[in-house]
Amino acid sequence: MTAPYRVALSGDFRKADASPVFPDFDLEPLRSAPSVEFTYLEPLNPVRAEQLEHFDALILLAHRFTQESIHPNGRLTVVARFGVGYDTVDVEACTRAGIAVVITPDGVRRPVAVSIVTLMLALTSKLMVKDRLTREGPAGFARKGEHMGIGLVGRTLGSIGIGNIGAELFRLLQPFGMKLIAHDPYADRELAAELGVELVGLEEVCRRADIVNVSCPLSPETHHLVNAERLALMKPTAYLINTARGPIVDQKALTKVLTARRIAGAGLDVLEQEPPDPADPILKLDNVILAPHALCWTDQCFAGNGAADVRAVLDVQHGREPRLVVNKSVLATDRWQKRMAAFRSRFGT
Ligand SMILES: NC(=O)c1ccc[n+]([C@@H]2O[C@H](COP(=O)([O-])OP(=O)(O)OC[C@H]3O[C@@H](n4cnc5c(N)ncnc54)[C@H](O)[C@@H]3O)[C@@H](O)[C@H]2O)c1
Repeated sequence: MTAPYRVALSGDFRKADASPVFPDFDLEPLRSAPSVEFTYLEPLNPVRAEQLEHFDALILLAHRFTQESIHPNGRLTVVARFGVGYDTVDVEACTRAGIAVVITPDGVRRPVAVSIVTLMLALTSKLMVKDRLTREGPAGFARKGEHMGIGLVGRTLGSIGIGNIGAELFRLLQPFGMKLIAHDPYADRELAAELGVELVGLEEVCRRADIVNVSCPLSPETHHLVNAERLALMKPTAYLINTARGPIVDQKALTKVLTARRIAGAGLDVLEQEPPDPADPILKLDNVILAPHALCWTDQCFAGNGAADVRAVLDVQHGREPRLVVNKSVLATDRWQKRMAAFRSRFGT
């Protein structure tokens, strides 16, 4: 009998009482797939090599996957991240070990773009302060004229990054009648033109945009990309939105400009330290809207991520190249090709 294809889910997919963290992650396609077994790992972070000795595939939530997570038996073939950020994964170590790292841009594209629009609309319509005023009764109502919102027609949205999420944001904004600009050194120029987005330099985005959106990955190149100098270029009426990764923005510098009301405000789904220190001064500011790295968390987001990961691990089981591999160079190696051929002969294509 053929040994089953074994899939591990990182331990953080379950709560302490063993119930699923994301009930919308449908595991039925794994349960019903022929010759597949799956199980949750103990919640160790980073994932340890000995936990993975008997597994072919790992579906990974937020736990880290490092060199120490790789068992020397060479059995693990794919790490499927539940989401698109992979700064928690040592991709180079995976490549050396012949492991493909897969992400789920299809699952997060719409939910994160919608969360950027949510922050943009909440900031420019002063939703948070108006909510507070209403709860104050007559005294609050009397002050409603002090908090005029900003209309968006003809205003400029500038995105740092026009990839999966940035492009979707521009798609969603088409009916808003805004001017659209972006900075992205690796932009797909044809796509930008199709979406009516003018590609400009980073400083120009900061200078011209009424809303500066951050949608690029965190890397050594983008760490503190939005720093004091670039914040200083922003209009006093402009807002900053970051749903990408906290350290892309120098949060101390941002706190300074927000405290001094040098810019109008910010919407942040991500912070440099998560969760933040309760004494972090940014938590006290009334011109910032905060979310706990979860604004895009919806039933549809998790269903989409889960479906994409399950598809990827089942593709590998049948020796098919999964879509959306981060470390594409691994796919050309002899080692990978041999493993795919072995899977095809064990489980069929
Ligand atoms: N808040 C959340 O829950 C959440 C969910 C999903 C993704 N994210 C974050 O959003 C980021 C963007 O996701 P995506 O799916 O659009 O990724 P993507 O890789 O498709 O797009 C990122 C874009 O940024 C561009 N880029 C790279 N370096 C840049 C630089 N120096 N300046 C400007 N642009 C640069 C790339 O060329 C690419 O076009 C992810 O890296 C992730 O960190 C956050």
